[in-house]
Amino acid sequence: MTTHSGVPGARRSGTAPAVDDLSPAERLSVDELRTRQLERLRWTLRHAYENVPLYRRKFDEAGVHPDDCREPGDLAKFPFTTKEDLRDGYPFGMFAVPRSDVRRIHASSGTTGKPTVVGYTQADLDVWAETMARSIRAAGGSPGHTVHISYGYGLFTGGLGAHYGAEKLGCTVVPASGGMTARQVQIIDDFGPEIIMVTPSYMLTLLDEFERQGIDPRTTSLKTGIFGAEPWTEQMRREIEERMDIHAVDIYGLSEVMGPGVSQECVETKDGLHVWEDHFYPEVADPVDGHVLPDGQTGELLFTSLTKQALPIIRYRTRDLTALRPGTARPAFRRMDKVTGRSDDMIILRGVNVFPTQIEEIVLGTEGLAPHFQLRLTRTDRLDHLAVLVEALGGTAGDRRSTAAAEIASRVKDAVGVSVDVEIVEPRSLERSAGKIRRVIDQRPQG
Ligand code: DLL
Repeated sequence: MTTHSGVPGARRSGTAPAVDDLSPAERLSVDELRTRQLERLRWTLRHAYENVPLYRRKFDEAGVHPDDCREPGDLAKFPFTTKEDLRDGYPFGMFAVPRSDVRRIHASSGTTGKPTVVGYTQADLDVWAETMARSIRAAGGSPGHTVHISYGYGLFTGGLGAHYGAEKLGCTVVPASGGMTARQVQIIDDFGPEIIMVTPSYMLTLLDEFERQGIDPRTTSLKTGIFGAEPWTEQMRREIEERMDIHAVDIYGLSEVMGPGVSQECVETKDGLHVWEDHFYPEVADPVDGHVLPDGQTGELLFTSLTKQALPIIRYRTRDLTALRPGTARPAFRRMDKVTGRSDDMIILRGVNVFPTQIEEIVLGTEGLAPHFQLRLTRTDRLDHLAVLVEALGGTAGDRRSTAAAEIASRVKDAVGVSVDVEIVEPRSLERSAGKIRRVIDQRPQG
């Protein structure tokens, strides 16, 4: 197979940016970073306490005062913040600055009830653009590159967050947003972007469309995809890298903390995501009793903002499961493991915890199948059943389909410890993602 360089995979040798191209913050030593964090942490705690009634009440109830934070470890004495706190303050109750200083508002739709509303001052937007620019550079982007952004624009932070970061780095932005898949493919083919930013599930939709239009996805101008906003696996990385001959790197973030660009994987190492710790302070805690876990242990990720003016956030419970590790490509910044699940996505099937990413790993490793699958939960006779629906690749014969179904069922049983029904469905019959994918369809009676 031929690629731009004529050598399969040649575009995939990731190169680190020159040290001179990094921002001064990215070149800090660990000691310098810790000093900066402490200063900013103390400012944030005071700012939250003095300007947000909810924080004042929670700190008072817990018997802590911002002055009690003398080292980063003291943060563990302070109470958590949850999504419910933000919902209770709907819409602007958690803002710590006058409304006239708020330059932008985003909101996450939420599955039930009111959306979660977040706000940014101009200084917050500048920090966001800076951390996002760092992220794109870490992924292999440089000034002059063209960046095709297929994250949704609007109240979702993905599109606009990526947009301002790419402009800040000096890139040319194509603000495609999500949807109109056929046109996106044509624009990529015509405009020649080096970078695409999109959810991994929508990338698969775009890939199918390339093939439908008769364009070999390995021959496009793209060199790197920056994928996030939903969990994805190493198997998915391989699938995308091989089918497109690009680098696939991970970007993480959440609106309550900022948006995309809280942490980013470096293209030259692809070994987890460096947290931009000079702005977002991470902790990992036991999801059940909340005590802080040492680096290296997996638990629930918490974030405290260090510079945010409009919406300071203290020990926010992300529900995302990960572990912190020492820095590599950016030595002072700790890495977090790829987030392979959040406690909310977890299915408890007859007492066993099942994450959709565990199923993804298995489906993507099975021959004759497309990488499109859905999980359907039903209940009969008070027992929950999980069906895994997977699309066959065009041309996969009936007997291979049956073997593939049996293989998946047996691997899920071995690796996850539950029995599932597996149904191989026709090519192109499952719903396609145009943004964040919904993997689990829960058809159990409510209540
Ligand atoms: O999804 C922000 C974002 C946009 C990140 C574009 C990356 C790229 P929310 O809509 O608030 O914000 O959703 C945040 O999405 O708590 C995770 O559960 C999940 N998530 C985000 N990035 C990743 C990732 C944006 N790389 C929630 N891996 C987070 C796994 C992710 N899950």
